[in-house]
Parts: sequence; C-alpha cells; structure tokens
Amino acid sequence: MTIQLQPVGDRQDLQITSPANGWSLQGRLRIPGDKSISHRALMLGAIARGETLIHGLLLGEDPRSTAACFRALGAEISELNTDTVRVRGIGLGQLQEPLDVLNAGNSGTTLRLMLGLLAAQPQAFFTVTGDASLRSRPMSRVADPLRQMGAQIWGRQGGALAPLAVQGQRLHGIHYHSPIASAQVKSCLLLAGLMAAGETTVTEPARSRDHSERMLQAFGAPLTVDPEACRVTVTGQAATLRGQTVIVPGDISSAAFWLVAAAILPGSDLTIENVGVNPTRTGVLEALARMGADIQRQNERLVTGEPVADLRVRASTLRGSTIGGDLIPRLIDEVPILAVAAAFATGQTTIRDAAELRVKESDRLTAIATELRRLGAQVTELPDGLEIQGGATLTGTDVDSYQDHRLAMSLAIAALRARGKTTIHGAEVAAISYPDFFTRLQRVVTA
Ligand code: S3P
Repeated sequence: MTIQLQPVGDRQDLQITSPANGWSLQGRLRIPGDKSISHRALMLGAIARGETLIHGLLLGEDPRSTAACFRALGAEISELNTDTVRVRGIGLGQLQEPLDVLNAGNSGTTLRLMLGLLAAQPQAFFTVTGDASLRSRPMSRVADPLRQMGAQIWGRQGGALAPLAVQGQRLHGIHYHSPIASAQVKSCLLLAGLMAAGETTVTEPARSRDHSERMLQAFGAPLTVDPEACRVTVTGQAATLRGQTVIVPGDISSAAFWLVAAAILPGSDLTIENVGVNPTRTGVLEALARMGADIQRQNERLVTGEPVADLRVRASTLRGSTIGGDLIPRLIDEVPILAVAAAFATGQTTIRDAAELRVKESDRLTAIATELRRLGAQVTELPDGLEIQGGATLTGTDVDSYQDHRLAMSLAIAALRARGKTTIHGAEVAAISYPDFFTRLQRVVTA
C-alpha cells in the first residue's frame, strides 16, 4: 500500500499500490490558486498603471510562463510566491518589443490572451511560441478575428500554428460571433479591444468563464456584459486600467480531483477550503450532483469579485448521467476526471458536445478513453464525447499521462480504486497546474 514518485530521467513515474480494503480521504485540504485568475491577474497587472498585488497566485508552470513573457515585455513582476506578488504595470499600449522569442510553454491561455495585446501594440514586432503540445494547438480561432480587427499575424500552416510572428498595429473594433464558447477567444479579443478604435463585441454560443470580464471591470475597463445574450462589449481607448489587489481563490478544476476521489472512495469525508465557485465554472458540481454525489457548499462569500466557498464531500454511490450542451463550457477541463467518476458509477454515462477536448493539452477524449480502458473500464469514444459503462472492476497497470497535467491527476484518482499496482508514466506534468498534487495525495489518503 504505497504512493511513490520514481524519477525516470527528467520525468517521473507515479506508482500507486492500493490496499486490499481500499483508501479513503479524510480531513481538510486547501488547493492551489485558480489558474485562469492567476494568468489574468499577472496580465492585467502588467498593462495597468501603478501596482497590483496578487495574493494566492498559482505557482504552477503555466503562470510562470505568463510572468516570464510579461517581464520580457517590460513589466516588473516580483519573485513568484503564494503570499504576495507585486506587479508594477507599464500601462496600456506600452508593451516593449522584447529582445527574444516569447515562450508560453504549455499554456494556451498565456499565448492566446497575450496575442490580443501584442497585435494591438503599434510599432513593435513579436515572435511567440510554446512547447510541442502548444505548437500543435489551433491559433486561427484568435488570429482570424484579430486579423479582422486589422492585426498582422503570420505563422506555420497559413498562420494557424505557433511559432507566430506579430507586427503590432492600430486595430479597430468588430462584432465577433464566435463559433465556439471559449474564454480564451473572448478574452483575447477583449484585451485587443482595449486599445482598438471604437467598440469590440464578442458573442458566444454559450457562456464561457467570465474571469476576464470581472477583473477588467475591477481594473476600471469600460466593459458591458449581457449574460443572457452571451455578449460582452469593451470600448477601446477609453480608460486607463489601474492596479488592484487580487486575492486568487482555489481552483475548482484542481478541487475536482478531490471531489471525485472522495465521492468514489467509501468512507471518505473531505472538506476542500477556499474554492472558487464562479457560476461559469461550477458545471462539475452540477454534473456530480446529478450523478448522486454528496457535496455541500459551506461558508459562501465574495472575494475580490469572485464567489468562493468551502466544499464538503462525502462518499456515496454514483449513478450514470448525461452531460452535454451548455454545461460543457462550464466544466470543460473536468471531463477527464468526470470520466473517472463515471467508470465507478452504476449504469451508463454519456458525454456529448465536447469535441473541444480534442484540442486541449492532449486529445483528452482519446487519451482518457485509451488509458481508462487499459485499467479495465468500458469506454467508447464518440466524435464529440465519451460513453462509459460504469461498474467494471479496475485493475492496476501501466498508463500514460500524454504529457497532460489533467490526465496525470485523473489517472492517479482512478488508480486509488483500482486493484493492485498502477504506474502513471510522465506524472511530473501535474506541476503545470498543481505542483504539490502527489505530496497532498500521500498526506490525505488513509487506508
Ligand atoms: C481557459 C479557458 C478554457 C480552459 C483553459 C483555461 C482560460 O479554454 O480549457 O484551461 O483561462 O481562459 P478555452 O477558452 O479554449 O475553452
């Protein structure tokens, strides 16, 4: 009965050997800061005037990429820590031309949001790239509407893939009807719109996370939101952003691993403290409630404009459900861990309308289906989702992270209820969004 990390070259294997009578999760747990809010706090801090203080920043690899890029663009950002990060902003339209390529690492949010700011920065030239995963992810979804605003962006495969080159321009506002519900697309265009002539409006087919809107308003941007119409408008060249204090809540996408773990491990009773429960992110709570999970919200409050709560979860018998439609953008990053929950539920779970998962850090539909099947689960891949027959007995074996942080952590949770020993290859990738996930896991489980 062990949970151990083994170095393998510059990678790590996680080995989990489950006890005969199973694990359970007990006690209280604090999770790292929200990744989306951490990126935005660094970026808005960098383009605001004055000082921004960030408390509770996520110290994962992705926000580190954002900080490195914005330092190269001229912002002063103190050493990253969870306590207080100080950002001395340079002001809107003041980004400096960097001496070298900007590297967003594994982070789609860094690259896509930053692109909106670079495209709108006149008289400066930028090159941007990322790791192998990011260089294979679609950039046309942001580059094309930016070009409609007057941007000059070039890249591989007709300007669709990074590395990208950007010659900053004076942009003009557009009304963009996005074909996908994507906070990265919406946020990129709003950031570009801050400096564009006239109004920039983005309408989405369903609501994606609204952290940008909340934080832009808090920094003083002239922004109007029509939630019913899934529409947001920013007026360009109209205001100065002012540095703020941002208290970053815990990331519900990181809490999701513990929610599912405690729900499926008999005898568990776990409270996760300080979780961001912005309604555009709580699809996972609704999906798990439909599956019969026992999750209570406690101590609900508002912290620098974002709703926060503690979540108490107790083990229960889960049942299969159907997850699709407008719920998908509200749980987009939680599909792999929901697939794990479904594997331990009674009956069938069907996930639809989730084709976006194919262009995340990995093709998450293929990745989770393949690896859960290796463990003995019955999973069928659909073009836009998954069909999971719950209730099969899972047996430990060798599985792979696909160099995707959410895959590594989802498989670790599945392994807690698999018989015998599971080895997750490439488990170190969890540090993208949850640097001490495995240490926490060792501490919180009891046999
Ligand atoms: C994010 C938006 C989502 C999400 C990603 C973070 C953000 O991506 O999957 O992890 O911070 O804006 P899409 O906008 O591509 O759906």
